[in-house]
Amino acid sequence: MTIYNNLLLRQENGILTITINRADKLNALNSETINEIHSAMQQVYDDETVQGVIITGAGPKAFVAGADIAEISQLTEVTARSFSESGQEAFSMIERCNKPVIAAVNGFALGGGCELAMACHMRVASTGARFGQPEVNLGLLPGYGGTQRLTQLVGKGKAMELMMTGDVLGAEEAKALGLVNHVVAPEELMPRCVELLQKIMSKAPLAVGLVIEGVNAVYNKDENGYQTEANAFARLCASKDFVEGTSAFLEKRKASFTGK
Ligand code: COA
Repeated sequence: MTIYNNLLLRQENGILTITINRADKLNALNSETINEIHSAMQQVYDDETVQGVIITGAGPKAFVAGADIAEISQLTEVTARSFSESGQEAFSMIERCNKPVIAAVNGFALGGGCELAMACHMRVASTGARFGQPEVNLGLLPGYGGTQRLTQLVGKGKAMELMMTGDVLGAEEAKALGLVNHVVAPEELMPRCVELLQKIMSKAPLAVGLVIEGVNAVYNKDENGYQTEANAFARLCASKDFVEGTSAFLEKRKASFTGK
C-alpha cells in the first residue's frame, strides 16, 4: 500500500479507511494532502479488493478544520483558481466513485472539511462533530464545491444562510437539515460506518455503483437523469448478479453476489 505524508490508509475486510493525518493542524488540507486524496481515490478506483471506503480525521478533535489557511493566505488570483480546481477534482473523484464512500465525522468539519464530508456519499457524525462553511470570515467563499453541494444537501435558503453567516452547526442540527445521515456516540462512530458499509457491500456491487451514478445525474445539468436510470436498469438486467438476485428470491434463499 502506498505511503502518504498526510494520509493513513488501512484496509480490512474490503473496507479502506483513509485518515487525514495532520492532527497538529487539526487535519487542515494543504495542497499536498489534496493531491494525496486524489491519488488515494485513484487507488480505490483501481483496486478490486477495495469494496467500500471510510474517510475520517486523525485525533480526537477534528475531522478536517478546513483548507490550510497558512497556504491560502499566499494565494494570488492566478494560483487560487488551480488551487480551487484541484480540490474540486479530488472531491469529484470521491463523489463519482462507484464504491460507497462514507465520511466518519469525528470533530470539526469546517470549510474544506465540510466540503470533503459533503463529497462523500453519506455522513455519519459523532455527537461532538461541528459543521460549517466559515470562509466569509476570511474574505472567501467555499472553493472545493461547497456552494454546490451544501445547496444540494440542505436547500437554497439554508445554504445561503450558512455560507453568508459562517455559522457552525452541531451534529444534531446538521442531521435535522439533511447534512448528516446518522449521529452516534464517539465510540460508535467507526463501528456504525463499518456496519453501514457491510450492509451495502452485501448487495449487488454493480447495482450500488449505478445507484451512485443515477443520483449524481440529478445534479449534472448536461445529463438526462431518467435516461441514465433507464440505461443503468437495462445494463443491470444483463448482469449475472441480476440472475442471482431474482433466482435467490424465487428460491427463498440468500443471494450471493459476485459483482459481475
Ligand atoms: N488551516 C491551517 N491551520 C489550522 C486550521 C486551518 N484551517 N485550523 C486549525 N489550524 C491550526 C491552528 O493554526 C493551530 O496551529 P498551531 O498550534 O501551530 O498554532 C492548530 O491547528 C490548532 O488549532 P487552534 O485554533 O489552536 O484550536 P482551537 O481548538 O483553539 O480552535 C478551531 C479550533 C477549529 C475553532 C479553529 O482552529 C479554527 O477556527 N480553525 C479554522 C477554521 C476555518 O476557518 N476553516 C475554513 C478554512 S477555509
